[in-house]
Amino acid sequence: MTKIRKAVFPVAGLGTRFLPATKALPKEMLTVVDKPVIQYVVDEAREAGIEHFIFVTGRNKTAIEDHFDVQVELYETLSRRGKTEILDRLEAMQPQPGQTSYTRQQVPLGLGHAVWCARELVGGEPFALLLPDMIMQSETGCLKQMVDLYEKSGGNVLSVEECDPGETHKYGIVGRGKDIHTGFEITSMVEKPKPADAPSTFYISGRYILQPEIFALLENQQTGAGGEIQITDAMLRLHAEQSFYAHVYKGRTFDCGSPEGFVEANLSFALEREEFRPYLKNFIRTLLPEIES
Ligand code: G1P
Repeated sequence: MTKIRKAVFPVAGLGTRFLPATKALPKEMLTVVDKPVIQYVVDEAREAGIEHFIFVTGRNKTAIEDHFDVQVELYETLSRRGKTEILDRLEAMQPQPGQTSYTRQQVPLGLGHAVWCARELVGGEPFALLLPDMIMQSETGCLKQMVDLYEKSGGNVLSVEECDPGETHKYGIVGRGKDIHTGFEITSMVEKPKPADAPSTFYISGRYILQPEIFALLENQQTGAGGEIQITDAMLRLHAEQSFYAHVYKGRTFDCGSPEGFVEANLSFALEREEFRPYLKNFIRTLLPEIES
C-alpha cells in the first residue's frame, strides 16, 4: 500500500459567494476565530500524515504563500518580547522548508481542471485532495479517518455525508453499494443532480484520496455541470477501472465559502476553545430571548 504523502489544495476560486469580503482578500484567508480557513485544512492534512502541500492558486492569492512563509522579523520580535506561547503555535503550524509547492490555475475552467494543474507536482502516486471551503471539526480529523479506511480498502476514498433530499443539486452525489468498514462501496457518481436524478442523499463533502490515473482522464475531460470540468465526471470514468469507497465522516462540516457556514464555524470553533467558552456561553444565553421570540 503506497502511503499518502501529498495533498492538493485548490485555492484559485474567486469567492464570489463571499463578496465584498473577498474583493481583495482570498476567501481561504478569512479568519475562523484566530486562524485563516486554509490553516485548518492544512492542519487536518498534516494530522493525516501529509508531508507535501500543493496549492493550486490564482491571481490575488499571494497572501496564502506569505501566510505559510517564515516571517523572520515577526518571529524575532516575538522571541525578544518573550511571547513564546504564540511563537510556538506559529512554528508548529509552519510547513518545513521544501514542504510546499505552488502552481497556478491560469483560467478558471473548473475543479477538475484545477486538480489537473497539480499533475506534475503530484507525479505517479496516490494523493489527497482537500477543498478548503469545507472545514471539519472532529476529534480525529476527516482525512485521518479516511486514511484509516484507505489502509484497509486501497483504491479511491471519498468522504461523504448526508444532505437533505432537496439539496442534491449543490453537490456531487454518490450511489450506495455494499457496506465496508466505516463506509460503503460507491456504485455511481453524479455532479449536482436534481433530487429526482440523485442516486442517494450522500454527498461528497470535499475530501478525496485519489489514484494518479485520474490525471490522464482529467486531461481530456469534457465540461459537465455548470459548463466546468468536473472532478466528479473524471472519477466516474476512473470508477469503470478502479474501486471507489465512501467514508461516512463522523464530525461537523462547515461550508466556509458561504457567510452562513462561516458564522457557524466561528461559533463552533470558538466554543471548543477553553479561553472563549465560558464567556461565549453566557453571551449566547443573553441572545436566547431574541432567538426564541
Ligand atoms: C465541489 C464538488 C462537489 C462536492 C462539493 C463539496 O463542488 O464538485 O462534488 O460535493 O465541492 O463542497 P463546488 O462546491 O465547488 O460547486
